[in-house]
Amino acid sequence: MTAKVFVTRPIPDAGLEVLRQAIGKFDINPDDRVLTKQELIERVEGCDGVLCLLTDNVDAEVIDAATGCRIFANCAVGYNNIDVEAATARGIAVSNTPGVLTDATADLTWALLMAAARRIVPADAYTRAGKYKAWGPMLFLGADITGRTLGIIGAGRIGSAVARRSTGFEMKILYTDTHPNETIENDPGAKKVPLDTLLQEADFVCVHVPLADDTHHLLGRREFGMMKKSAVLVNTSRGPVLDEAALVAALRSGEIFAAGLDVFEDEPSLKPGLAQLDNVVIPPHIGSATIATRNKMAEMAATNITALLNGHAPPNCINPEVLDQK
Ligand code: DGY
Repeated sequence: MTAKVFVTRPIPDAGLEVLRQAIGKFDINPDDRVLTKQELIERVEGCDGVLCLLTDNVDAEVIDAATGCRIFANCAVGYNNIDVEAATARGIAVSNTPGVLTDATADLTWALLMAAARRIVPADAYTRAGKYKAWGPMLFLGADITGRTLGIIGAGRIGSAVARRSTGFEMKILYTDTHPNETIENDPGAKKVPLDTLLQEADFVCVHVPLADDTHHLLGRREFGMMKKSAVLVNTSRGPVLDEAALVAALRSGEIFAAGLDVFEDEPSLKPGLAQLDNVVIPPHIGSATIATRNKMAEMAATNITALLNGHAPPNCINPEVLDQK
């Protein structure tokens, strides 16, 4: 097959190997950095397929520049960085990488939950700074996890995996979703409740909804005010789902106890004051960052491209209606 494919940034070789096998040569941005909008526009022109990342803003302007392009394959499960409507209108397929990062992201959600609850980050900094002179009965007191209530906002693949991991902690589980999730209702016995109920009753609130118009600032000042003062909030979905400035205020005033955030509203920038708080854990969007998971994501994104260019439906096409038009 001869086709022109562009990869917007170096990705694990497992994905590049899929492209090598299927199309031989392809173009890749060799620099490990996000391309500017202008660079992206220049590089996508004349490509048959583009393997892009969640940091590439594939808006209508970029899509228009991609004359002849048949697919934008995002190497991520979230695809809020792509204007799917604009792509669909121009008959261009869009694909993502669902499923393969569920466990890694659910694991990181629990890592953040525990780190925030038990104050691991400031406690670690304290030890490293040589301040640990003697065991103390009041040193870094945190929150219990066992037997508490876990609230899951969005019980899809990742939310459900987070719920399943709670069984050893004997937790009560509440969840919100547009549809009932019978699987987690049966085991581990989760109960669907309205969002306000979840916020009022949960000790741990984990956010797992995709970013869309109706989830932008889903939690803000009002919602933080409804949560328990002892509550821990964890977000491994997308930053703008939370009103980050309001969260800084809530964490600063003690309205909620702590937070673990893997994603930020204006990523990679942080809202003023966030980095100065010691009751927040803030890794740089590493939910899916395990070697095996990133290999699978890269393979999956590349396979979506090669499938389409070989005349097959990409296995993870978000807008399959464009395939019917071909
Ligand atoms: C995704 O895939 O959407 C994550 O945010 C990064 O892996």
